[in-house]
Amino acid sequence: MKILGIESSCDECAAAVVENGRQVLSNVVATQIPIHAVYKGVVPELASRKHTEWIYPVVQEALQQAGLRADGLDGVAVTAHPGLLGSLLVGLSFAKAFAWAQNLPWIAVDHLLAHLYASQLSLRSEASAAVPYPFLGLLISGGHSVICRVDGFDGVTVLGTTIDDAVGEAFDKVANHYGFGYPGGAAIDKLAQTGDPQAFTFPLPRLYKGDHRCDFSYSGLKTAVINQLDQFRRKPAAAVTPADLAASFQKTAVEILLRGLFRAVEDTGLRTIVSGGGVAANSYLRALLAEQPDLRCIFPPLELCGDNGAMIAGLGYQHLIRGDRSPLTAIASARVKAFKRRYP
Ligand code: KG4
Ligand code: ZN
Repeated sequence: MKILGIESSCDECAAAVVENGRQVLSNVVATQIPIHAVYKGVVPELASRKHTEWIYPVVQEALQQAGLRADGLDGVAVTAHPGLLGSLLVGLSFAKAFAWAQNLPWIAVDHLLAHLYASQLSLRSEASAAVPYPFLGLLISGGHSVICRVDGFDGVTVLGTTIDDAVGEAFDKVANHYGFGYPGGAAIDKLAQTGDPQAFTFPLPRLYKGDHRCDFSYSGLKTAVINQLDQFRRKPAAAVTPADLAASFQKTAVEILLRGLFRAVEDTGLRTIVSGGGVAANSYLRALLAEQPDLRCIFPPLELCGDNGAMIAGLGYQHLIRGDRSPLTAIASARVKAFKRRYP
């Protein structure tokens, strides 16, 4: 079964074709980053207008790269939540019209569940084994930071989350203070590779108690790093470099995540960790998790960490083969829907 996946929840206009929920036949991502970079963040109105212009050629390109015509598809999947409402509506409306015109079954899916599904996909002809459920999910992006128990493609229980900024947002805000473009997570990752992570010690947030055992926070770290950078600019210390500061920030940011994650391992006994979202591309996080002897840590291929249509098509396939269908009256929602909160 070949499913077309459409993603337009934020600043990537993306479409892909995935076969049998696993094999990526094409994956086209048209990024709007250069358009939003001048404003140092995504401008929702500009995003939805660009999606309107780009969605049709992006879908055409995805079909062409997969060597298919529209009548070679078996279904359509599209992100319906969470995200920027105007942007979501472009993809959702396009998918409805496309599916209706081609007389295809279609399904509206959740973007966060799709990030958690990305590790089940194989690019090109690489064969990789499906990851068996249950596992712990580490969903880390510019908008969300969630540690969860994943019992199936749509069975997720949140164990911990940020109480303020998302981890990607902290990277982006620190990067902005450095004068790097938006989004700046990858630039901080690169700079940190030349710095000393032990140069500065930043305090870890204290949220140990009761219900907050696996929760975390990034606003304190973000402010501390920005203040330190300002001090450094006023009075440069010969022995310390901006790269040292970036490396120390990155080390602390990852430690904050891992402290919550290791508590979730302790509480659930689950030892397989599956990551997803843009921050899953972080080299320090990947290296640190790879060193854990008694954990199996799985990351999607780098090109499937950020927003893409393949994860939407893969998740959509699972819904469609179960018999799930969306009505043409289905609506988009800016808010998180699929995750229910429960504490260990
Ligand atoms: O999943 P994604 O593409 O979009 C959202 O749904 O938010 O994630 C984008 C986020 C941005 O905050 C970006 O700075 C961050 O992922 N990011 C990274 C790295 N690559 C992207 N953060 C840290 N290290 C990286 N290598
Ligand atoms: Zn995303």
